[in-house]
Formats: sequence, structure tokens, C-alpha cells
Amino acid sequence: CRVRHYKFNVVMRNTTRLCSTKPIVTVNGQFPGPTVYAREGDNVLIKVVNHVKYNVSIHWHGIRQLRTGWADGPAFITQCPIQQGQTYTYNFTITGQRGTLLWHAHILWLRATVYGGLVILPKRGVPYPFPKPHKEAVVILGEWWKSDTEAVINEALKSGLAPNVSDAHTINGHPGPISNCPSQGGGGFTLSVQSGKTYMLRVINAGLNEELFFKIAGHQLKVVEVDATYVKPFKIDTIVIAPGQTTNVILTADRNAGKYIVAASPFMDAPIAVDNTTATATLHYSGTLANSPTTFTTTPPKNATPIANNFLDSLKALNSKKYPANVPLTIDHSLFFTVGLGINPCPTCKAGNGSRVVANINNVTFVMPKTALLQAHYFKINGVFTTDFPGNPPVAFNYTGTPPASLATNNGTKVYPLQYNATVQLVLQDTGIIAAENHPVHLHGFNFFAIGKGLGNYNPKTDPKKFNLVDPVERNTIGVPAGGWVAIRFRADNPGVWFMHCHLEVHTSWGLKMAFLVHNGKGPNESILPPPKDLPKC
Ligand code: C2O
Repeated sequence: CRVRHYKFNVVMRNTTRLCSTKPIVTVNGQFPGPTVYAREGDNVLIKVVNHVKYNVSIHWHGIRQLRTGWADGPAFITQCPIQQGQTYTYNFTITGQRGTLLWHAHILWLRATVYGGLVILPKRGVPYPFPKPHKEAVVILGEWWKSDTEAVINEALKSGLAPNVSDAHTINGHPGPISNCPSQGGGGFTLSVQSGKTYMLRVINAGLNEELFFKIAGHQLKVVEVDATYVKPFKIDTIVIAPGQTTNVILTADRNAGKYIVAASPFMDAPIAVDNTTATATLHYSGTLANSPTTFTTTPPKNATPIANNFLDSLKALNSKKYPANVPLTIDHSLFFTVGLGINPCPTCKAGNGSRVVANINNVTFVMPKTALLQAHYFKINGVFTTDFPGNPPVAFNYTGTPPASLATNNGTKVYPLQYNATVQLVLQDTGIIAAENHPVHLHGFNFFAIGKGLGNYNPKTDPKKFNLVDPVERNTIGVPAGGWVAIRFRADNPGVWFMHCHLEVHTSWGLKMAFLVHNGKGPNESILPPPKDLPKC
């Protein structure tokens, strides 16, 4: 194990996409940002220097941060933001994890442009549990707005209405050779391959608000890992990937010379507005003649739920001797959280006719505190949060049928407390209020096992009988299906304050978020470490 040093200078950079140029927030002037490489067991030190007018914080999405919540990154949850001119060094050790993750800004909508790959290689000398690919590549998907993304969300919060959808999806920062800007005709990411060789693509969805289908014309993808956990390998044409999720696939370049289109298009199982564009890249075989035609592919329609489920239902933990699926078999906390939208009064919202769209978990719309929850917890500062987050909805109703009489939600900065090492079963139920929507819910600080899912209302009597407690896939972000539910389990073996939220940024902005507070255990390595000296102050 070694120490890896990175320096992230947060700077503005003029960037042109879709034939228009705007200044964007970047790390080191790069878009997408630099890929961070480390090995399991390494100590990673990333010095972030903020040169822009926005407050900044960076999250290492999926890194467990055992006892080092100070390095997790969500602004006002585990740290105060890094203000203009300030520096903060994220310091964490990668314990028991290897695979593909991502890093992104975790404040405002800055992650629209401030994101990058996070590749954790196995410990030196430890092989992958599948044949070593000839080469590897990071394929990071995103969304692009022609206008300033901070203006987009600020306008929406002012009006009470939904923000504008993005103007394009991107692959490694580019809409691709087929975009609505002919002068970018030659643009786009090219993946160069040699016939007969295998390639591992580390596919990441860093988009803000949309789940994506991903496929490559004329090729099957062998899925080997999601969210930095190994799965039982299987072959498929199309994968689906929600914001915050990662999927490693092995591509066998089993064609002769030629060019094949790589495509990412939206999956949204709901009648709501999405950016309907398809981002493209090119798979290019060596030896292909310059004028040879490209092989195209059709992408699934945006409501192609069977295609999404075909992928999702195939995911099973590898559950080998070396990588066992340690599913908690007893439960200390059985929780049921509704996730969805609501409507609150807003006298200043003219466009929204005096009301605004909000989002909630168990009818609580989370209000961001003025000081970080973790600091308030550690230094025992009163009045920042309350510990009464409800473990069940305050009123039961037909979640996927008739909505309750009032769609109004309660505001609060509430956390759900857990003893160290407690086991949790959590059912996340979409409420379908306003519209049934997929909600990719991300839990910080833990991986969890996805033990069950279904459509309609969760039935606590019959559904648990169908749970997979043997080899459920292990993830950090899970799609709650539109008009349905998922059940997850995890062990609270990481002391600190851990954010959980919908990874559709618009839903987070609307309040679809909460936090678990895991108390220190009594053992020697069961309490959170002291904060670093340079931890920003609010
Ligand atoms: Cu990837 Cu709380 O975020």
C-alpha cells in the first residue's frame, strides 16, 4: 500500500459544446475531470484548492470512508464548503474495496461539470475474478446544458416549477459525432480496439437527472461488476445505469475491422420531460479504412422497462469464497421510507401559482443546515438537527394508487440514529405523487444488498418471502422503480453521519434526502477519527 497524492485546482474554463461556449467550473481545467487511480489499501490525499466564486466540496461516491466521514464531501452534511481561496485535503484510506466509482462536486449543481472517474485497482498481485482484459477504459456519461446550470436550478427553485432538461447527453464529455452541431462532425470519443482482444469498459453515469441505456452496435457486453462490487458475469446487449452508478463490462472485439457506434440514451419510466437525445461515441477497430461506413444501432425507447429489468434482474453478487455476500440475516431496524414528490405553498412562486414542487422521504422535506451535521454531532452543537426522522410514513396510504388528501410535506433537518453495528432493512417505496418516477437512491458510507423489488405497494406479509438473502447484488445506489419498491439491507459498521438521497439532482434540490447518524461503538476501532486541522468552517 502506498500514499497517492492528487491536486485538484478548481478553476473556471470556457468550454464549447453544441456549438455554444460557456464558462464552466472544472478541476484543473479538464472536462470531465481527471481520473483518480489508486489500489485497494492505499491512502489517498487529494488537495482541493478553490479558485472560483462558488463554494465547493467534492464527494468520493461509493468510497466507504470507514471512520473518516470528514473526507466524504457532501456540503453541510460532513463538512462546511471550501470557500473561494480556501484549501482542503481529503484524506482517506480505501479499505476492502476495489472497482470503479466516481467523484463529483457535492454542492449546488456543480457536479454538472465537476466530476471524474475513480478507479480502484485490486491490491498488487491480486487478480480480477475474471480473465484479465487486454486494456481498460473509463467511459463516463453525463449531461450538458447550453445555459449555466446554476441559473437553471436557481430559476426552478424561484418559480416552484421543474428545471429545464439538459440539451445533450455526453460520453467522456462529448455529445458525439452525431450531435445537433454539424461543425462538431468529427468530434466525440473514440475507443480504439484490435480485433480479437478484450477490453474492460468502466462505465459511469455522472449525469444529473437521467438514467441511461448504454449499448454498442454489433457487440454484446459481459457484465462483471457494479458499484465496485463483483457480480456473477453475464452477457447482455444493453445495460441501464442510473446517476451515481457504475458498471464494468468486458467487450470482446470479435468483429473484423470497422466502426461501430457506442450509444447512451435516456431511460425514464414515467411521462415526464427528459432530454431525448442520444450521446454517441465510436468503437474503432485498428485497420479500418478511413472511408468505411459506421455500423449503427437503435437505442431503446425511453420507457423500455423490460429492457432495464432484463439487466437489473440479472445482477447477482459474485458471492465467491474470496468475495462473499455477507447479507445481514437478522434485522435490528426494519424501516419503510416513502420517496416521492409533494406540493408545498410558496407565496413568492408566481409561475407555480403560489405553490412549489418539493420532494420528501416519509413526508419530510429535508432542510439543509447552516453547519455540517457531522461537526454538530462530533462537537455536540445543539440545535442543528433533530434525531426524530420517522422510521415509517406518518400516514399510510395507497402509495401507488390514490394519493392522500394533502400533498403538503413537513420541513425538517432530521436524522435517523443507529447504534454502531446495528443491522438495517430498508424498504424504499415510490409514492407516485404527481408522477411515478424512478428514484436512484444513494447511501453514503455503506454498500447495501438489494434483496428485493416489486411493483405496486410493498406487502410486508408476502414480499419478504421472496427476498434473496443468498447472492443479492451489492451496491451504493439503487433505482426505486417508478410505481414500485426496493428492499435493501446493510450493517451500520461505520460511525458518522451518512447522507442518503435521490441521485437525480433535481430531487435532491427539492429535498429528497435524509441522513443516518451512526454512533461510535465501544471497541478500539469503532469511533470516528478526529477531524483534520484544515476542515473548512461554516
Ligand atoms: Cu454521488 Cu451524495 O452523492
